[in-house]
Amino acid sequence: MNKLTIRDIDVDGKRVLVRVDSNIPIDEKTGSITDDTRIQAALPTIKYLIARQARVILISHLGRPKGKVVETLRLTPVAQRLSQILGQQVGVATNCIGSEVEKSVESLRRGEALLLENLRFHSDEETGSASFAKALARLGDIFVNDAFGTSHRDHASIAGIADYLPAVAGLLLEKEVDTLGSILKHPAHPFALLLGGAKVSDKVALLENIIDRVDTILIGGGMAATFLKAEDYKVGLSSVEEDRLNFAAELMGSAAERGVRFLLPVDVAVANETSNEAEVETLSIENIPPHLKIVDIGPQTIKNFADELRGCKTVFWNGPMGIHEIPRFAAGTKYIAELLASIGATTIIGGGSTAEVTTELKLADKMTFVSTGGGASLKFLSGETLPGVDALMDKKR
Ligand code: 3PG
Ligand code: MG
Repeated sequence: MNKLTIRDIDVDGKRVLVRVDSNIPIDEKTGSITDDTRIQAALPTIKYLIARQARVILISHLGRPKGKVVETLRLTPVAQRLSQILGQQVGVATNCIGSEVEKSVESLRRGEALLLENLRFHSDEETGSASFAKALARLGDIFVNDAFGTSHRDHASIAGIADYLPAVAGLLLEKEVDTLGSILKHPAHPFALLLGGAKVSDKVALLENIIDRVDTILIGGGMAATFLKAEDYKVGLSSVEEDRLNFAAELMGSAAERGVRFLLPVDVAVANETSNEAEVETLSIENIPPHLKIVDIGPQTIKNFADELRGCKTVFWNGPMGIHEIPRFAAGTKYIAELLASIGATTIIGGGSTAEVTTELKLADKMTFVSTGGGASLKFLSGETLPGVDALMDKKR
């Protein structure tokens, strides 16, 4: 990475303001954390700073409280989990700016860490307000961005603070940028892009940027319906993005011109409703009736995808193959995850729901890399600069 990192600066005794992405899923009923991957992922940076006697001030958002205090989106569970893992008390402040917080920060000793309250309780965070960024910057001597998962947002705590403090990358951010960068720059071939999830529109820029670098594109999930319709198949009640039909057709055309193999489902599981009690059957894509919708890829498709992926040396996967939240529609996603965990390829998993699936199936350790960024990894692989990376200090050449 061409940005300075925490390894390049002296942090001893300094107030180091670290933006982490602790936007983790929390069970609504129990209030407990259901997947702490993002907390774990920030540990190398936090431990590095603690070991070097920095005063560590952690800032994060959680959920989308839209500028108001939402009790269920307080960061207390994150501070508790951090305290457990680190074996030292990590306090949580009642706010993220203001004189109270400044006092707590002042009393922080070398090697101690404090987590500030949810940044998004202030609407100024998401508007990227300069005065809010300045108020945050007052709390530190150095700014570290380790929130890769939020680095595609032009928010005050992501890009803004860097206007007021020396700004460097944390170790997670560095790892994400280097790993995702390596599959853009020098992937081992054959290189496959495996996409699923609901929407084509989320992935247009990625597909356009990556088509010249990949050997195969495989499409499952809800978004496959738009591609199938562009090929004149009837997709019943499956939702189709009418305004992306041309894009889908053109993309398949450019793939053919470039000799990029393009795999769509040949059979699908269809259901009359989105519930575990639905009537489900497997049909060829030629026979989807008007009153049913696609909920998963079918067994022949799984086999075709598996045969293709087994021959690949690099695979980037983003997006489930079906409505995996419903156990009966999760077979395709599960099979594909298990397959990726078992092949000898470099397997890079996009964040968000794909990362959660991988963790749920206890397969994350078997992948080469699981990104902590959903939207951020898509944007990065689309070739776009991320505001949170761009704002950091460049390495001298
Ligand atoms: C994420 O989970 O996508 C990041 O934490 C960013 O959150 P956001 O999508 O609400 O901006
Ligand atoms: Mg997001």
